[in-house]
Amino acid sequence: MVTTVQNPLREGMTVQRTPEPSIMVIMGATGDLTHRKLMPSLYNLAVEHLLPNGFSVVGFSRQDKDHEDWRSDMRQAVDKYSRYAPVQPSVWDSFAQGLFFKQADFADENCYLQLKEMLDKLDKERGTNGNRIFYLATPPTVFPLIAEMLGKAGLVTDQAFGHGWTRLVIEKPFGRDLESAQKLNRELLSVFHEDQIYRIDHYLGKETVQNILVFRFANGLFEPIWNRNYIDNVQITAAEDIGIDRRGGYYETAGALRDMVQSHMLQLLTLTAMEAPVALDPNAVRDEKVKALRAVRRLRGQHVLQDVVRGQYGPGWVGGQHVEGYRAEEGVAPDSATETYVALKLEIDNWRWAGTPFYLRTGKRMPKRLTEIAITFKQAPLALFKDLDPDSMTPNVLAMRIQPNEGISLKIVAKVPGQGYDIQPVYMDFLYGSSFARQVPEAYERLLLDVMIGDSTLFTRRDEVEQAWEIVTPILDEWSHTPAPDFPNYAAGTWGPDCGQELIERDGRTWRVV
Ligand code: BG6
Repeated sequence: MVTTVQNPLREGMTVQRTPEPSIMVIMGATGDLTHRKLMPSLYNLAVEHLLPNGFSVVGFSRQDKDHEDWRSDMRQAVDKYSRYAPVQPSVWDSFAQGLFFKQADFADENCYLQLKEMLDKLDKERGTNGNRIFYLATPPTVFPLIAEMLGKAGLVTDQAFGHGWTRLVIEKPFGRDLESAQKLNRELLSVFHEDQIYRIDHYLGKETVQNILVFRFANGLFEPIWNRNYIDNVQITAAEDIGIDRRGGYYETAGALRDMVQSHMLQLLTLTAMEAPVALDPNAVRDEKVKALRAVRRLRGQHVLQDVVRGQYGPGWVGGQHVEGYRAEEGVAPDSATETYVALKLEIDNWRWAGTPFYLRTGKRMPKRLTEIAITFKQAPLALFKDLDPDSMTPNVLAMRIQPNEGISLKIVAKVPGQGYDIQPVYMDFLYGSSFARQVPEAYERLLLDVMIGDSTLFTRRDEVEQAWEIVTPILDEWSHTPAPDFPNYAAGTWGPDCGQELIERDGRTWRVV
């Protein structure tokens, strides 16, 4: 199936997005990610006729199942999580013909040899030409083992030598600090080439995140003022009302800094701060992102304690419901020192941004779910109208709402109708929901299709992930010998600890009220 989409950066031009037939092997296929995200997204692509003919999925996992068991599990998952639920029987029947299962022990070489045989056979039956995607949806501890085993079994082939192509998709967390990320990169790169590796950050699959690039570089209006001369500060907020669900085991080893800042929030910062790429190709875009990350000033020692603050939620009320504190969640130590909130101030030392701070904050169990980037412009130079009402002279704020209520709003002030010059803030608002009469695809739909097409623009390159860890690792190091003395320090359902407010207020600014 050939799909044609508009290239958003070149008005009037279209690009072909034509996935070749391939087989996706999901390692860890019985887990949560496969049920909640991968299979519903693949099915949604099938509904939209975006999957190539013959496309097949092989679940490769420890549990003992046959093809039919797995198909019926997957059908339930799709029914529960697909945006096109309930399942349409005709689409499902043809999609399910391409679903297969192979029971596996990740450490057993024979399982990979059997997998190879199975894939070779499927290539013949389904016309997939040796094109393979290996999707690591497993715990990160087995990433290197699986990569090594795939290599040993001859499952990693190079198109240059007349075989089909092989791609590896790898989920976060990609390492837990700079050293482990570098090690993992070395391990993967001893088996795969960089351009075969697709490191997922699902935020990059979100429409609104991709729109940051379009908004900045397809409009002539904003770019000339997108710099330190006109922008006072940038605030990036990723607030969640949920706690940690049943992910205590993982979250105890991560914390908000690793879980959200190293990945999603630095991605948002990068797209906001980067220079225009010379082309919309994977390396041109990622070169600029890496340059922006390199310019982020590294915080060390005393500066960490000054510019980065952390919090952990205690019991409280969210959405009218009483909720437990973090330390009472399943899988969490009763004296846990893991942070569920972090706020930090970053400076970008380059000509565009020197002197314009970027404030980042993220937390679990906040009053609501909201992710946005707010650009506050410098105040108008002359307060002509100030004498009338000092409070009405507020700066212009451009807010890019990533979720929910996806859209962009610009706060300006306007004259209140009537005698005199009373002024009041008003909003110019663009809402995705009302401007485009179509459903927004899930992040994973876009990303999975990009892997099939071989477009790695929205995936994190080796140097990019290492740069992000370079920013975050000194903070983790400093925290490792300065435990937070006051956890829990915010009640669930509030906007975080006092130190989060102080971080920004000491600069004479406040967090945007959202
Ligand atoms: C994940 C984190 O990567 O992103 C979770 O591990 C977090 O802790 C989630 O809840 C947030 O994603 P989204 O798409 O709901 O904003």
